[in-house]
Amino acid sequence: MTIRLWWIRPEDFKASPAALALLSPEERQQQQRFIPPAKRHEYLVTRVLVRSVLGEMLGTAPENLRFVLNDWGRPALAPESTIAPLHFNISHTEGLIVCLVSDEHQVGVDTEHLDRASTLLKLAPDVFAPDELRELRALTEYEQPQRAVLLWTLKESYIKARGMGLSMPLDSFAFRFDQSNIILELANPLEDDQTCWKFETHQLGSHIISATLSLHGQKKQVESRINIAEFTSRG
Ligand SMILES: CC(C)(COP(=O)(O)OP(=O)(O)OC[C@H]1O[C@@H](n2cnc3c(N)ncnc32)[C@H](O)[C@@H]1OP(=O)(O)O)[C@@H](O)C(=O)NCCC(=O)NCCS
Repeated sequence: MTIRLWWIRPEDFKASPAALALLSPEERQQQQRFIPPAKRHEYLVTRVLVRSVLGEMLGTAPENLRFVLNDWGRPALAPESTIAPLHFNISHTEGLIVCLVSDEHQVGVDTEHLDRASTLLKLAPDVFAPDELRELRALTEYEQPQRAVLLWTLKESYIKARGMGLSMPLDSFAFRFDQSNIILELANPLEDDQTCWKFETHQLGSHIISATLSLHGQKKQVESRINIAEFTSRG
């Protein structure tokens, strides 16, 4: 069983013709549409990261992988690119790109810089559930920024694991912190089994990363934690 979180700082990756050659013609076109150079570079590094790690796991040349999108835009490997299930999810923000991969669990991942805290604290009543908001406001001024980013990335990683994007209202579920456990509470428990998810959070420098694993149809105790690895440039 593999659950690995790959990360790379885009500034550590040197763009090269070899790296660009890993992208499909559509991806190369898409890359050219980004005007800011940083966004263009981020797009390239993301594609190289995803194609390289999945290609290595599948024993397939990265440039030969094909992807499809679900109705809400989540990319997955096209059926012809893989025989066994291989789940992945991507998140990119300024200064960090992450890709969570599992051969067993559907996954979701989100990362944000702690700099986002002030925006999130302003948006808190709109983006957090009432219980989350109450717990957030009970914290000290010093603790609130970290909690806001933690909550936001957890919510996004859960939404992304479900694959439905923002069609899921952000206040329809809440996260509670019970010592070292992260507990999901759904406004309508009939929509999903809230005990069928495992959550993990990590901090890498000033970035928070939250990961969600689906345990649906599997035993609820996943012993192994997520293995974190830096993706080093092969471009
Ligand atoms: C996918 C979504 C949930 C997260 O996007 P995001 O946090 O902006 O961006 P991330 O970098 O974390 O994730 C983007 C990646 O998620 C993946 N993704 C796209 N749609 C997805 C979906 N429905 N489910 C899961 N993953 C999805 C893609 O791989 C995408 O990267 P790519 O386009 O390079 O392939 C998106 O629906 C969204 O718009 N979120 C809201 C952002 C927002 O409103 N922010 C303002 C409040 S502070």
